[in-house]
Amino acid sequence: MRIDSHPIVQFKREKKTTFYFEDKEIEAYEGETIAAALIAAGVKVFQHSKHHNRPRGFFCAIGKCSSCLMEVNGVLNQMTCMRLVEQGMRVKRQKI
Ligand code: FES
Repeated sequence: MRIDSHPIVQFKREKKTTFYFEDKEIEAYEGETIAAALIAAGVKVFQHSKHHNRPRGFFCAIGKCSSCLMEVNGVLNQMTCMRLVEQGMRVKRQKI
């Protein structure tokens, strides 16, 4: 879900783009973070806890907590709340 209108803040949407999350094509906007695009696409689980394998969502959205770490284009530990979407990139959950 994305906020389309707001009484005070105006949103300028950039061009549409797509990337892949665990082999599923996800629609996003240029300039949007990976985490924002995933949340908009209905993805709520970003990781599973190390000891009990419980699902974990993202938390701070400002690069301070590491709950959003994922593998991006084969590189582990990428903060998806800080990294912007790029056309065709491959994102997947990682084991912690
Ligand atoms: S959600 Fe906290 S660092 Fe990304």
